[in-house]
Amino acid sequence: MEFLTIALPKGRPYQETVRLLREAGYAGPELEDDESRSLLIECPAQRTRFIIARDSDVPTYVEYGAADLGIVGKNVLMEGEPKVYELLDLGYSVCRFVLAAPASSDPQLLLNGSSARRVATKYPRMTEAYFSGLGIQVETIYLHGSIEVAPKVGLADMIVDITETGRTLRENNLAVIDELWTSSMRLIANRASYRLQADRISPLVQRLRALLSVSPNQ
Ligand code: PRP
Repeated sequence: MEFLTIALPKGRPYQETVRLLREAGYAGPELEDDESRSLLIECPAQRTRFIIARDSDVPTYVEYGAADLGIVGKNVLMEGEPKVYELLDLGYSVCRFVLAAPASSDPQLLLNGSSARRVATKYPRMTEAYFSGLGIQVETIYLHGSIEVAPKVGLADMIVDITETGRTLRENNLAVIDELWTSSMRLIANRASYRLQADRISPLVQRLRALLSVSPNQ
């Protein structure tokens, strides 16, 4: 049987992702080796291998078929709209897309003022869609991370970012003006693999679905 290749995001959701895959029987202890810097990890007993990638790159590996499956936040899928199948809402790493500004600023003035406001974000497409829906013109400033510092140093008036615990917003004196969307982790599939590897992908989906339906987090 061929190896099934699954792209996983490093960072905050990693531990929960590995726990779920191990519980489902698709990953072995190799994935939990904290010392390893290898970014392609094989689990021979499960006939699976894992690409450890940046979250925003996970859909790229899947869309181009370098990975059969991927696990990634809905926030990344909404921004990039990759040509992949979204198979399952895994329900963890729930976070909110928010519009936020310095707690000391007046939201009405920011949104209705006459001059175009600058909005820093990792999600330019979603940000533009949101503001164009409101009929408000803004200048979007694309950053790769640490978005919350932008208003503090005069780079932007507001930010659009995801928040999970709210701690980063709080510690940078930002207040939420609006909640845009919510996000959680999703299982995605390469379109060709979904057909050609159906005998391996379908049982995995069923197993995850069964685990999620009994999970206290659901
Ligand atoms: C994300 C997000 C916020 C932070 C929010 O950043 O962009 O900065 O998490 O989390 P909190 O509400 O729990 O504080 P990430 O940790 O992915 O790092 P980044 O800023 O480098 O993108």
